[in-house]
Amino acid sequence: MRDVHYMKLAEKAMAQLCNPEARGAFLTVRSGALLNTMTIGWVQIGFMWKMPVMTVAVRKTRHTCGLIESAPDFTVTFPWDGEMGKALEYCGTHSGKNGDKFEACGLTAASGRSVQSPIVACRGLHYECRIVLRSPMDPARMEGGLASLYRSGDYHTLYAGEIVSCYETDRFKSVDTALG
Ligand SMILES: Cc1cc2nc3c(=O)[nH]c(=O)nc-3n(C[C@H](O)[C@H](O)[C@H](O)COP(=O)(O)O)c2cc1C
Repeated sequence: MRDVHYMKLAEKAMAQLCNPEARGAFLTVRSGALLNTMTIGWVQIGFMWKMPVMTVAVRKTRHTCGLIESAPDFTVTFPWDGEMGKALEYCGTHSGKNGDKFEACGLTAASGRSVQSPIVACRGLHYECRIVLRSPMDPARMEGGLASLYRSGDYHTLYAGEIVSCYETDRFKSVDTALG
Protein backbone atom coordinates (compact mmCIF):
# COMPACT_ATOMS: atom_id res chain seq x y z
CA MET A 1 0.00 0.00 0.00
CA ARG A 2 1.44 3.37 -1.02
CA ASP A 3 0.12 6.77 0.07
CA VAL A 4 -0.50 8.94 -2.97
CA HIS A 5 -1.17 12.69 -3.21
CA TYR A 6 -4.88 12.96 -4.06
CA MET A 7 -4.18 14.70 -7.41
CA LYS A 8 -1.13 12.67 -8.49
CA LEU A 9 -3.06 9.89 -10.23
CA ALA A 10 -6.30 11.83 -10.80
CA GLU A 11 -5.86 11.89 -14.59
CA LYS A 12 -5.38 8.12 -14.69
CA ALA A 13 -8.39 7.67 -12.37
CA MET A 14 -10.60 9.84 -14.62
CA ALA A 15 -9.48 7.81 -17.66
CA GLN A 16 -10.63 4.66 -15.84
CA LEU A 17 -14.17 6.10 -15.80
CA CYS A 18 -14.22 5.80 -19.62
CA ASN A 19 -12.12 2.64 -19.96
CA PRO A 20 -14.07 0.56 -22.51
CA GLU A 21 -12.83 -2.73 -21.00
CA ALA A 22 -13.69 -1.89 -17.40
CA ARG A 23 -15.72 1.28 -17.16
CA GLY A 24 -16.24 3.12 -13.89
CA ALA A 25 -15.19 2.98 -10.27
CA PHE A 26 -16.67 1.40 -7.14
CA LEU A 27 -18.52 3.66 -4.70
CA THR A 28 -18.70 1.74 -1.43
CA VAL A 29 -20.74 2.73 1.60
CA ARG A 30 -21.34 1.17 5.00
CA SER A 31 -24.22 2.46 7.08
CA GLY A 32 -24.66 0.58 10.34
CA ALA A 33 -24.96 -3.09 9.45
CA LEU A 34 -25.66 -2.36 5.77
CA LEU A 35 -22.89 -2.50 3.15
CA ASN A 36 -23.17 -1.86 -0.59
CA THR A 37 -21.08 -0.99 -3.60
CA MET A 38 -22.18 0.46 -6.95
CA THR A 39 -20.43 1.50 -10.13
CA ILE A 40 -20.08 5.24 -10.65
CA GLY A 41 -18.99 7.31 -13.60
CA TRP A 42 -19.61 10.81 -12.28
CA VAL A 43 -16.79 11.86 -10.01
CA GLN A 44 -15.06 15.16 -9.35
CA ILE A 45 -11.80 15.72 -7.51
CA GLY A 46 -10.73 19.16 -6.35
CA PHE A 47 -9.99 21.55 -3.54
CA MET A 48 -12.85 23.33 -1.73
CA TRP A 49 -13.49 24.63 1.78
CA LYS A 50 -9.71 24.56 2.40
CA MET A 51 -9.56 20.78 1.91
CA PRO A 52 -9.18 18.12 -0.80
CA VAL A 53 -12.67 17.02 -1.83
CA MET A 54 -14.18 14.24 -3.91
CA THR A 55 -17.78 14.64 -5.12
CA VAL A 56 -19.95 11.79 -6.39
CA ALA A 57 -23.44 11.98 -7.94
CA VAL A 58 -25.99 9.35 -6.91
CA ARG A 59 -29.56 9.14 -8.19
CA LYS A 60 -32.33 9.02 -5.59
CA THR A 61 -33.50 5.60 -6.78
CA ARG A 62 -30.18 3.86 -6.05
CA HIS A 63 -30.01 1.57 -3.04
CA THR A 64 -26.72 3.35 -2.31
CA CYS A 65 -28.59 6.62 -1.89
CA GLY A 66 -30.47 5.24 1.12
CA LEU A 67 -27.20 4.19 2.73
CA ILE A 68 -25.11 7.27 1.99
CA GLU A 69 -27.82 9.54 3.40
CA SER A 70 -27.11 8.20 6.87
CA ALA A 71 -23.45 7.17 6.52
CA PRO A 72 -20.59 9.36 7.76
CA ASP A 73 -18.30 8.47 4.85
CA PHE A 74 -17.74 6.64 1.56
CA THR A 75 -14.85 5.19 -0.42
CA VAL A 76 -14.15 5.21 -4.15
CA THR A 77 -11.96 2.49 -5.69
CA PHE A 78 -10.51 2.88 -9.19
CA PRO A 79 -9.38 -0.60 -10.33
CA TRP A 80 -6.36 -0.66 -12.63
CA ASP A 81 -5.76 -2.80 -15.72
CA GLY A 82 -9.35 -3.67 -16.55
CA GLU A 83 -9.21 -6.62 -14.17
CA MET A 84 -12.55 -5.74 -12.57
CA GLY A 85 -14.51 -5.26 -15.80
CA LYS A 86 -17.13 -7.92 -15.06
CA ALA A 87 -17.63 -6.78 -11.47
CA LEU A 88 -17.98 -3.13 -12.54
CA GLU A 89 -20.55 -4.13 -15.14
CA TYR A 90 -22.48 -6.20 -12.58
CA CYS A 91 -22.39 -3.54 -9.85
CA GLY A 92 -23.56 -0.96 -12.39
CA THR A 93 -26.57 -2.98 -13.52
CA HIS A 94 -27.72 -4.77 -10.34
CA SER A 95 -29.07 -3.25 -7.17
CA GLY A 96 -27.96 -4.07 -3.66
CA LYS A 97 -31.68 -4.01 -2.84
CA ASN A 98 -31.89 -7.48 -4.39
CA GLY A 99 -28.77 -9.15 -3.08
CA ASP A 100 -25.20 -8.88 -1.85
CA LYS A 101 -23.06 -7.71 -4.77
CA PHE A 102 -19.80 -8.50 -2.98
CA GLU A 103 -20.87 -12.13 -2.76
CA ALA A 104 -22.29 -12.24 -6.30
CA CYS A 105 -19.04 -10.87 -7.81
CA GLY A 106 -16.58 -12.54 -5.45
CA LEU A 107 -15.43 -9.13 -4.27
CA THR A 108 -13.68 -8.62 -0.95
CA ALA A 109 -14.38 -5.60 1.25
CA ALA A 110 -11.11 -4.58 2.92
CA SER A 111 -11.14 -2.28 5.95
CA GLY A 112 -10.68 1.39 5.29
CA ARG A 113 -7.75 3.12 7.00
CA SER A 114 -9.51 6.24 8.21
CA VAL A 115 -13.23 5.69 7.60
CA GLN A 116 -15.80 3.04 8.48
CA SER A 117 -16.74 2.27 4.86
CA PRO A 118 -14.46 -0.40 3.37
CA ILE A 119 -12.67 -0.36 0.02
CA VAL A 120 -12.96 -2.95 -2.74
CA ALA A 121 -9.84 -5.07 -2.47
CA CYS A 122 -8.08 -4.96 -5.85
CA ARG A 123 -5.05 -3.49 -7.56
CA GLY A 124 -6.03 0.14 -7.84
CA LEU A 125 -6.36 3.58 -6.35
CA HIS A 126 -8.55 4.21 -3.30
CA TYR A 127 -10.02 7.42 -1.92
CA GLU A 128 -11.50 7.51 1.59
CA CYS A 129 -13.88 10.42 2.08
CA ARG A 130 -15.67 11.89 5.10
CA ILE A 131 -18.97 13.39 3.98
CA VAL A 132 -19.16 17.18 4.37
CA LEU A 133 -22.10 18.02 2.09
CA ARG A 134 -25.25 16.30 0.80
CA SER A 135 -26.78 18.45 -1.92
CA PRO A 136 -29.90 17.26 -3.83
CA MET A 137 -30.22 18.73 -7.33
CA ASP A 138 -32.93 21.38 -7.59
CA PRO A 139 -34.58 21.40 -11.07
CA ALA A 140 -35.74 24.99 -10.52
CA ARG A 141 -32.10 26.07 -10.51
CA MET A 142 -30.94 24.11 -13.57
CA GLU A 143 -29.80 25.96 -16.71
CA GLY A 144 -28.65 25.06 -20.21
CA GLY A 145 -31.17 22.29 -20.83
CA LEU A 146 -29.96 20.22 -17.91
CA ALA A 147 -33.51 19.54 -16.70
CA SER A 148 -34.30 17.74 -19.98
CA LEU A 149 -31.85 15.04 -18.90
CA TYR A 150 -34.11 14.28 -15.92
CA ARG A 151 -37.51 13.70 -17.56
CA SER A 152 -38.26 10.84 -15.14
CA GLY A 153 -37.51 13.08 -12.16
CA ASP A 154 -34.76 10.76 -10.92
CA TYR A 155 -32.37 13.54 -9.91
CA HIS A 156 -28.89 13.03 -8.58
CA THR A 157 -27.79 14.10 -5.15
CA LEU A 158 -24.22 15.37 -4.95
CA TYR A 159 -22.22 13.99 -2.04
CA ALA A 160 -19.00 15.82 -1.30
CA GLY A 161 -16.46 14.20 0.97
CA GLU A 162 -13.21 15.44 2.44
CA ILE A 163 -10.49 13.14 1.11
CA VAL A 164 -8.93 11.88 4.32
CA SER A 165 -6.83 9.14 2.73
CA CYS A 166 -5.65 8.31 -0.79
CA TYR A 167 -3.48 5.29 -1.58
CA GLU A 168 -2.62 2.73 -4.22
CA THR A 169 -2.68 -1.01 -3.57
CA ASP A 170 -1.32 -4.07 -5.35
CA ARG A 171 -3.30 -7.25 -5.83
CA PHE A 172 -4.84 -8.73 -2.67
CA LYS A 173 -4.26 -12.48 -2.21
CA SER A 174 -7.89 -13.11 -1.14
CA VAL A 175 -9.10 -11.50 -4.38
CA ASP A 176 -6.89 -13.78 -6.48
CA THR A 177 -8.59 -16.71 -4.78
CA ALA A 178 -12.09 -15.31 -5.13
CA LEU A 179 -11.84 -14.36 -8.79
CA GLY A 180 -9.72 -17.32 -9.90
C1 LIG B 1 -20.22 2.71 -16.04
C2 LIG B 1 -21.37 3.06 -15.14
C3 LIG B 1 -21.37 4.27 -14.49
C4 LIG B 1 -22.44 4.63 -13.63
N1 LIG B 1 -22.41 5.85 -12.98
C5 LIG B 1 -23.40 6.17 -12.13
C6 LIG B 1 -23.33 7.40 -11.39
O1 LIG B 1 -22.35 8.16 -11.46
N2 LIG B 1 -24.37 7.70 -10.57
C7 LIG B 1 -25.48 6.87 -10.44
O2 LIG B 1 -26.40 7.21 -9.67
N3 LIG B 1 -25.55 5.70 -11.12
C8 LIG B 1 -24.53 5.32 -11.93
N4 LIG B 1 -24.58 4.12 -12.61
C9 LIG B 1 -25.72 3.21 -12.40
C10 LIG B 1 -25.61 2.42 -11.07
O3 LIG B 1 -24.34 1.85 -10.90
C11 LIG B 1 -26.66 1.28 -11.06
O4 LIG B 1 -27.97 1.82 -11.15
C12 LIG B 1 -26.52 0.37 -9.85
O5 LIG B 1 -27.28 -0.81 -10.09
C13 LIG B 1 -26.99 1.01 -8.55
O6 LIG B 1 -26.77 0.09 -7.50
P1 LIG B 1 -27.51 0.17 -6.09
O7 LIG B 1 -28.99 0.17 -6.35
O8 LIG B 1 -27.05 -1.07 -5.38
O9 LIG B 1 -27.06 1.42 -5.41
C14 LIG B 1 -23.53 3.74 -13.44
C15 LIG B 1 -23.52 2.49 -14.11
C16 LIG B 1 -22.46 2.15 -14.94
C17 LIG B 1 -22.46 0.80 -15.63
